[in-house]
Amino acid sequence: MMLLWVAFGVGPVGCEQLIDFDIKVAPSDDRTRRFTVRVREDWAPIGAARLVELVGAGHYDGCAFFRVIRRFMCQFGISGNVTKQSLWRRRPIGDETTARGSNRRGMITFAHAGKNTRSTQLFINLVDNTRLDKENFPPIGEVVAGMDVVDAIRATGEGAPGGPGPNQGLIQRRGDAYLLENFPDLTRIIKATIRRPPQLFETATTTTPPRLPQIVEAPASATSESASRQMTGAIQFAALAAIFFAVVSFYVGASLARHRRSGPALLDVESPLVPGRSGAADKES
Ligand SMILES: *[C@@H]1O[C@H](CO)[C@@H](O)[C@H](O)[C@H]1NC(C)=O
Repeated sequence: MMLLWVAFGVGPVGCEQLIDFDIKVAPSDDRTRRFTVRVREDWAPIGAARLVELVGAGHYDGCAFFRVIRRFMCQFGISGNVTKQSLWRRRPIGDETTARGSNRRGMITFAHAGKNTRSTQLFINLVDNTRLDKENFPPIGEVVAGMDVVDAIRATGEGAPGGPGPNQGLIQRRGDAYLLENFPDLTRIIKATIRRPPQLFETATTTTPPRLPQIVEAPASATSESASRQMTGAIQFAALAAIFFAVVSFYVGASLARHRRSGPALLDVESPLVPGRSGAADKES
C-alpha cells in the first residue's frame, strides 16, 4: 500500500489532479455512482487546463451523456443552460503543440469540429480507439476508478439525424428544455469535483526516516562514532535504493500489464465527429 502511494508520488505528473464525477445512471436512481479521472497535463497541457477550469466553474454539473455508443465511446459536456454553453463555446482552445497519450479504453478526450475548436465536449473511450490518435484527439486524462460506472452509462445510439439519439444542434440551441422533453432518461452528471490528493511524494520524502536500530555499541571515541554514522548512512542508502528499485519494478510491471490488457484496436468505428460513418464494431467479436 505504502509502495503504491510512493509510486503515485513519483509518477510523471508533478501536481496531479483527480476529478470525481458523481452520476445518476437513471434519473429515478436514488443513489449516485462515481468514476474518477486523473488529469494528464503531461499528455495534453492545454486541454488538461481547460478541463480543470470547466470543472472548477461547475460546467459539467447536470450535464447529460447525450451520445453513448456501445463499444465506441460516450460523449457529454454540453451544458443544459444555453447561455452558459454559448459563453464557453465562443472561447475554444488551441490545439496541443505536443500531444502524447493514446485513445485507449478509459482515456478521456475533447471532441472537436476541426482545428482549434475544442471547447466543452468530452468523450470517454469505451474501447481502444487508437485510430483517433491521428485525428487530432489527444487524451487529456484517464479513468482511474469506476470504469464499471462508465460502462453503465445509458446508450443512446448515434445522434439525430443519423440515429435515434439527441441532436447536438438542438441541445446547443434549446438545452435541457429539448433534452428533458424528448430524452428524459439520459444518464446525467450530478456533480464533478476536483480532488487534490495529499502531496504523497513530499510526505514520503520529508518525514524523518524511521530510526534504524543501532548496530554498534555506544561509541567509545569520536572515530568509532563517525564509523557508526557511516554505517547507518550506508544502511539508509541501501533501504532507499531498495524502495526505488521496487517502485521502478512496480511501474514497469503495471505498464507491461496494461499493454497486455489492451486488445486489438477497433479500426472501423465512427469518429466522435463524423456521425454519418457507420461503425463496423458490432460485426467484430
Ligand atoms: C444559466 O447561466 C447563466 C450564465 O451563467 C446564468 O446567469 C443563469 O442564471 C443560468 N440559468 C439557469 C436557469 O440556471
